[in-house]
Amino acid sequence: MAILYDPKERLFTLHTKNSTWQMKVSGYGHLLHVYYGEKVEDADLSYLLRGINRGFSGTPYEAEETGDRGYSLDTWPQEYPAFGTGDYRRSCVLAEHEDGSQAAEFLYVSHRICPGKYSLPGLPALRAGKEEAQTLEIRLKDRCTGLEVLLYYGVLEQEDVITRACILENTGSAPVILHRAMSCCVDFLRGDLDLITFPGRHAMERKLQRDKTRPGVCSVGSTRGTSSHQENPFVILCEKEAGEYQGACWGAAFVYSGNFLAETEVDQIGQTRLVMGIHPEGFRWRLDAGGRFAAPEVVLSYSGEGFSRLSHHFHDAYREHLLPPSFRQRKTPVLLNSWEAVEFTFQEETLLAMAESARELGIGLFVVDDGWFGSRDHDRSGLGDWFSNREKLPDGIEGLAEKIHGMGMQFGLWVEPEMVNEDSCLFREHPDWCLRIPGRAPNLERCQLVLDMGRREVRDYLFAAISQVLSDTRADYVKWDMNRNLSDVWSAALPASRQGEASHRYVLGLYELMDRLVRRFPDILWEGCSGGGGRFDAGILYYMPQIWCSDNTDAADRIRIQYGTSFGYPVCAMGAHVSSCPNGQTGRTVPLPARAETAMAGTFGYELDMRTFTEAERAQVPRQIADYERLSPLIREGDYYRLTDGEENRELAAWEFVSKDGRDAFVSVVFLHAAANPPFREIRLRGLDPKGLYRIEGEERLYRGNALMYAGLPLPVKLGDYQTVRYVLHRAEGEGEAGSAG
Ligand code: DGJ
Repeated sequence: MAILYDPKERLFTLHTKNSTWQMKVSGYGHLLHVYYGEKVEDADLSYLLRGINRGFSGTPYEAEETGDRGYSLDTWPQEYPAFGTGDYRRSCVLAEHEDGSQAAEFLYVSHRICPGKYSLPGLPALRAGKEEAQTLEIRLKDRCTGLEVLLYYGVLEQEDVITRACILENTGSAPVILHRAMSCCVDFLRGDLDLITFPGRHAMERKLQRDKTRPGVCSVGSTRGTSSHQENPFVILCEKEAGEYQGACWGAAFVYSGNFLAETEVDQIGQTRLVMGIHPEGFRWRLDAGGRFAAPEVVLSYSGEGFSRLSHHFHDAYREHLLPPSFRQRKTPVLLNSWEAVEFTFQEETLLAMAESARELGIGLFVVDDGWFGSRDHDRSGLGDWFSNREKLPDGIEGLAEKIHGMGMQFGLWVEPEMVNEDSCLFREHPDWCLRIPGRAPNLERCQLVLDMGRREVRDYLFAAISQVLSDTRADYVKWDMNRNLSDVWSAALPASRQGEASHRYVLGLYELMDRLVRRFPDILWEGCSGGGGRFDAGILYYMPQIWCSDNTDAADRIRIQYGTSFGYPVCAMGAHVSSCPNGQTGRTVPLPARAETAMAGTFGYELDMRTFTEAERAQVPRQIADYERLSPLIREGDYYRLTDGEENRELAAWEFVSKDGRDAFVSVVFLHAAANPPFREIRLRGLDPKGLYRIEGEERLYRGNALMYAGLPLPVKLGDYQTVRYVLHRAEGEGEAGSAG
């Protein structure tokens, strides 16, 4: 059993394969956190909870009455702390009541243990059936008002994952205003932890940042209306000693695509609290009597063996339980995207010629990016008008699609449904459909405004308009872009008292529209995008199996961006293309093999005009496609290992995919910067069968797994920057002992 309850001790224990979570209802009725970490079986760990009388850390009234001054909400670890009643650390809830008071104190009421995993109304969450997960639902109630909270714990035993979410419910008769409604809190009794986050910027996302937590609060978050390029809703807390392959670490991922906040607080006695949820800035949710508010899911995982194992937990959980099920094992064709080659300036003949040259080299899917619709000749007009630009496409987008299909290729296109240019038919017809504050000139980004996705009529228009295009073109692939952040958030459809709900209603509306469209077109391969990786989060991955990782397609930078991204997200979800050189974003020239090797640690495609290729380059493409197709089961379904430190090691980058059964492996090495008179280097592989014998493709000799993992594989000396070497290994079955095996 993954979830155990001891009624005598009022103790809950949640077990995954390798971790344990424990909590206890105190004698006063508070739900206390006891432990989250390495698996501990058959143990009541509540002996860890201790209190002494501390000045300026008060006690609940009845504890004082019994002389129990050691019991303080300010120092005892909590599962769902609230503001205003004596826990001065970061809270999960700040609720304002009819009398203006801002306080809550949740006490245990009841609980249920159910087979399968809970789902959340209108929100993405891991999916798992009765055989795969269990749910614990705990009901708590504010001591004095009708505010209740249902805490949800989903236990995915095999994946070593525990999910959390909650629903706040107003069972009273007066409205309650939520100023803060976080999804989860994890209290650690220790304070010597490091915090790892993934900050960045447009075209340089998810750079690993590791800092010591310190007394007080460290926070990362977004108030941009999206999860953002600047921070990512995935964080790791870890021991100081933790690294790729050793040490305790805890990951927390928010399954949400809007404003978020992740905070750690080291309190006065050196304990650490982690709180995660919707960013309270700008948030204000009115819960009328009977109203419910669902706080989005957080996926948590613990690894006692460092980050590599932790990443595997997230990769496996997302591949099995988050990505749209029909794409889990579906082979996706190698694509050519038009954007970097032609941007807005194309005619149908150009696209057809580009597609034809790509088809000749083995590309299976042609994607028309931005520029095919409305008056879209630049970024200042056309967004919102989802009908063909007949000047560029005389037979319409459907005519182009037919011709591409006629060439035996699949067809894909770009849309940016959430946006509108002022210079568009849609804006002229419905100026009130976008988010903007009356009387205030809105902040503009890329000349566009954001549609109010919280409004049904907006979503209905988009559903109808985009469905029409997708039916007319019989599209096989769609890239869903989003090229600005939210500002001037104000909805013409909401009363003043509910304007604080607009940003979250936007995200709920976005999810509803995505859900309708992906259900209406279940065979389409959807790729999320927000100016590259500005909305790279688990929320989007619930609807779309891949996300364009970054607008930076320079392979040298991409190696680092994909490295950071891989901590929390599986490689199969990372959109990655080979683009032309010198690179448009950096001006750097990286040889084609290194560009291809890098894109293969992702969804692999091309974004250039193949007509400009030399004969030598043309000759490489069919081989690259064949390699990707052959290796894609390993890449998409295998365990991914970071063999070098992508931040520190500027000499070379290496990564490895190993099949789940340890039989096959694929290792990529990119030598970043050549050195004169270079030292010898070897790389130590991971995840192999230590006793197994492996043959490297192209070599005669056999290597023993433990030799490759512990002693390593010598790398050749290469001249020139960005040279590559690749190893594909197979366990040699039935070849007996190799005397000469390494
Ligand atoms: C931003 C995307 O990330 C690019 O790949 C491209 O689709 C442009 N938008 C088009 O406007």
